Amino acid sequence: MTTARRLVACFAIAAFALSLGVVAQEKKDKKDTKKTPTTKEIMKKVPGKEGLCAKCNAAAKGEKWEDAKKIGAELKAYGEALGKNTPKKGDKESWEKHAKGFSEVMTEIADAADKKDKDGVAAGAKKFGGMCADCHKAHK
Ligand code: HEC
Repeated sequence: MTTARRLVACFAIAAFALSLGVVAQEKKDKKDTKKTPTTKEIMKKVPGKEGLCAKCNAAAKGEKWEDAKKIGAELKAYGEALGKNTPKKGDKESWEKHAKGFSEVMTEIADAADKKDKDGVAAGAKKFGGMCADCHKAHK
């Protein structure tokens, strides 16, 4: 092998090793984002004056549909995630029912945001506001 060839081979090996490292890192990142958020995390994100539900409603009201859609998609994902968790309190059957209700209303908001239907988003947000106490009594 000439020196030049050796160098090329050396670079090729280094580049290959580097790419393996990058792939491994990407896989790790993907895995991390796929982790199901806990109920507590979801409750910190979704409800409340500064929560995503209120933000989605405010965006829809202001006809900022790009924002509303993006937040709606997040709400839907949180809706799907909640049912994968197990609450500290209450039985499984009741939790499944409440989690399903939560997921449905999140989907309702997301779909309304997709359709630029601000009344639909507001109706979903209002419905969600009426669900807190019932679920908390059984599971919080
Ligand atoms: C489907 C059931 C369900 C619904 C609906 C629900 N929650 Fe919760 N929430 C829970 C559970 C379960 C916890 C306890 C989580 C834990 O500590 O593990 C909780 C905890 C909380 C907490 C405490 C979070 C923390 O930091 O510990 C807040 C605040 C909260 N919910 C607000 C709300 C509000 C406001 C609504 C309605 C707009 C609502 N939740 C609707 C199930 C629900």
